[in-house]
Amino acid sequence: MPLLAHSGTAFEAPRAATPPPQDRRRGTLMIVDDEEGPRQSLRVVFKSDYDLLIANEGETAVALARQNKVDVAILDIRMVGMSGIELLGRLKDVDPQIEVIMLTAYETIDTIRQALRLGACDYLQKPFDIATVRNAVAAAMERRTLSSEVRTNSEKLRELQDELQKHMMEEEIMRARGEIYASVIHEISSPLTVISALLQSLDHRMSHAARIEGDDLEMVKDRLKRITRQVSLCIEISRRYLSSLRQVPTETPRAWVNQILTDLGELLRVHPASKSSQLVMVPLEEDVSVSINSTDLVQLLLNLVINAFQCTAQMHRVEVRAEVLGHVLRLEDFQNGPQDRFVNRDEFQNKAPLLALSVQDTGPGIAVETLPRIFEPYFTTHKKGQGTGLGLAIVSRFVKQAGGAIHVHSKVGQGTIFTVYLPLKGSAGADLKI
Ligand SMILES: Nc1ncnc2c1ncn2[C@@H]1O[C@H](COP(=O)(O)OP(=O)(O)OP(=O)(O)O)[C@@H](O)[C@H]1O
Ligand SMILES: [Mg+2]
Repeated sequence: MPLLAHSGTAFEAPRAATPPPQDRRRGTLMIVDDEEGPRQSLRVVFKSDYDLLIANEGETAVALARQNKVDVAILDIRMVGMSGIELLGRLKDVDPQIEVIMLTAYETIDTIRQALRLGACDYLQKPFDIATVRNAVAAAMERRTLSSEVRTNSEKLRELQDELQKHMMEEEIMRARGEIYASVIHEISSPLTVISALLQSLDHRMSHAARIEGDDLEMVKDRLKRITRQVSLCIEISRRYLSSLRQVPTETPRAWVNQILTDLGELLRVHPASKSSQLVMVPLEEDVSVSINSTDLVQLLLNLVINAFQCTAQMHRVEVRAEVLGHVLRLEDFQNGPQDRFVNRDEFQNKAPLLALSVQDTGPGIAVETLPRIFEPYFTTHKKGQGTGLGLAIVSRFVKQAGGAIHVHSKVGQGTIFTVYLPLKGSAGADLKI
């Protein structure tokens, strides 16, 4: 039934399939036509379903759209002054989400195509019946609701993602902090063990002497000197970790290798874990320096050597060797496999000359299934309470920070060799100590 010819029958026409749910806001429908007849007919059809905004020309319609949230607009294409096509563009400028239905009479298919290109969602040929116009408006309202729901949901999703990202960062910081605190405790426990051993030997010697003089006095002085060094090491370790927590930039670090090996030897000589091991140190013929903090280098080697000490209770040999390589590493020779692991391949500053520091033991070796996990924080094969599994995670952190690499080669029943590669400080030869 043509609406414009029989507008009086508008209320008798069947309703659109889905009336808006009770809790939903009534939609706002804008009707723009420069002819009084169709404007009034449409008003009568829709006045009980939607909030209506009615205009008889383009500028008024644009102003109304600016002042109100319009969901759907019905625009006559052919109007005096601003055409329906132009108005469509202007309304989309105000709110790109407005659903627009064009009313056409004699327009060419090109005009209709242009309207659809500009974002009109539908067009109705005049004259049309009530059911058709109701269905078209109901469908447009539904689309509008859906698209705004989609938008609201995607905004919520974005907010959720931002929130999650923030939480993840906070968690990451907390985790890093937790790991740093655990690392401080882990690293300080070595010098504390040494201090405790030194104090015990002091106590033993002093409890048997009525007076301290001669050799005894020398021994006491020596032990006290060593204790002082270990206390300084503890302080230095906590200071380094605290500054990394506060992200304080440190000056370019430098460590002299042979000097470090001497310090290390001193620490290890009294370490209780050394009892079942024969320790051999092979320093460089000429000392060189590397770009790593000296405390970090001591800690790194200490972790590797203590692991080598602890790998078996049987008597075994542990060798610490320093070597300068005049060539870069052929990385293709260092593939990960059942007996090999290479750490920091991508960031490794593979420039000659390189320092190779190896810690080799004749212990039981590392099982094939264990090897891929040894650098994971908190991974340990020791009994509960005997290892935190942080040692190698700390070693790999220090090596990565210094632009170095680690290679592990281990054969079950034969032993393990960890080799740390570090770039020498400065240009080739510049840091050789003469
Ligand atoms: N030289 C080695 N020989 C055999 N296994 C080793 C050797 N070095 C490391 N591992 C294996 O790697 C695991 C992880 O070593 P890591 O130093 O990270 O932790 P941990 O020694 O178990 O505990 P922590 O160092 O905290 O006391 C060890 O539990 C051990 O299984
Ligand atoms: Mg360890």
